[in-house]
Amino acid sequence: MAEAARVQAPSAQSRDATIVLQAEGLERSFGGVRAVDSMGFTLREGSITGLIGPNGAGKSTVFNLVTGVIKPQAGTVRLFGEDISRLPTYERARRGMIRTFQLSREFGGLTVLENLMLSPQQQLGEKLVPLFSAQRRVHEAEQAVYARALEVMEISRLGDLRDEYASNLSGGQKKLLELARTLMIDCSVILLDEPGAGVNPALMTTLREMILELNKDHGKTFLIVEHDMDLIAALCDPVIVMTEGRHLLEAGFDEIRKDKRVIEAYLGGAHDG
Ligand SMILES: Nc1ncnc2c1ncn2[C@@H]1O[C@H](COP(=O)(O)OP(=O)(O)OP(=O)(O)O)[C@@H](O)[C@H]1O
Ligand SMILES: [Mg+2]
Repeated sequence: MAEAARVQAPSAQSRDATIVLQAEGLERSFGGVRAVDSMGFTLREGSITGLIGPNGAGKSTVFNLVTGVIKPQAGTVRLFGEDISRLPTYERARRGMIRTFQLSREFGGLTVLENLMLSPQQQLGEKLVPLFSAQRRVHEAEQAVYARALEVMEISRLGDLRDEYASNLSGGQKKLLELARTLMIDCSVILLDEPGAGVNPALMTTLREMILELNKDHGKTFLIVEHDMDLIAALCDPVIVMTEGRHLLEAGFDEIRKDKRVIEAYLGGAHDG
């Protein structure tokens, strides 16, 4: 019995310790502004990790650096142990890391269904099938994307809105659509930049449930930037705090909310919450 426990312990530990995403020494300035300064963090597989900090702390810039939207002046990013620092965004997406933007990026003139069906092409930066491939293959690919879009609308509670133009959606519904779009490709790491911004309380519950379900039932790992501390408290462990471009500390939410340095960082900044 004791023998079995000893044999199992290391594998359980190494499973716990699996790092899916690792950023080290990230640096990025804009003119005289050091937006991100020696920033590093790790994301454990299966976690929902929070990334918080006052306005201007550098959170969105970290997302941009990690996903390749902008180039770092220094630092490395590893995804599943592979150095992806020099890969374009779509190659990082192809390797399973997808993000949303702080401001929703839906196409207002397209329906919910059409927005979903367009997502894989946008995220992977390519046509789903080569232009000259046989008509049958094109049709099959379209059918597969359509079938996935139906599944995703089910998961994201958007089924009733499938033929609604995205421009007619509420702020919260647009955030759901934004998250739904990440699910159109086979990803394992999802980075959400302020998913709760502008979402009404009822949809906030839906959003929270959806993230939890994707984490627990679909095995997605999340990194979530958010100012709504209720959402962070309900979902995230651990929580990373950034201030002035740097990693200040990482701990459970209860510990963080009591930490003097965190309170000072928020009081010192121009933050609203
Ligand atoms: N493309 C850019 N050009 C110039 N300055 C930028 C750019 N992107 C970010 N910055 C600056 O870098 C700093 C960090 O910005 P960032 O958007 O990463 O902060 P944040 O933590 O996401 O803030 P918020 O909570 O308000 O979204 C800010 O001073 C910002 O003005
Ligand atoms: Mg931001």
